[in-house]
Amino acid sequence: MEADLKGDPVKGKQLFSAGCKRCHGLPEAGQFTRSRWEAVLPGMIRNAGLDGQEAADIREYINTNLIKN
Ligand code: HEC
Repeated sequence: MEADLKGDPVKGKQLFSAGCKRCHGLPEAGQFTRSRWEAVLPGMIRNAGLDGQEAADIREYINTNLIKN
């Protein structure tokens, strides 16, 4: 995908907090494992209508706040 885009975790947190609670409660990055996030996030990025850079920011935020595994 947009593997060359560098994510900004601070922007990612803002985008996450603003865009990911519209259809359900705001999840927590630490709520799911890395593999669960990888399965779920692409669809949710589409749901939230985010562009490639915003997606990279959110990924960075989630990756820096994951539970350990
Ligand atoms: C347009 C509505 C909508 C938006 C916006 C949205 N989601 Fe979701 N989300 C859903 C629906 C519907 C489900 C439950 C069904 C499913 O899993 O597809 C869900 C489920 C989830 C789950 C649960 C997965 C699980 O394993 O139980 C997570 C985590 C999640 N969303 C994260 C996000 C994140 C992060 C964002 C922001 C990037 C986001 N969502 C934005 C509709 C949305």
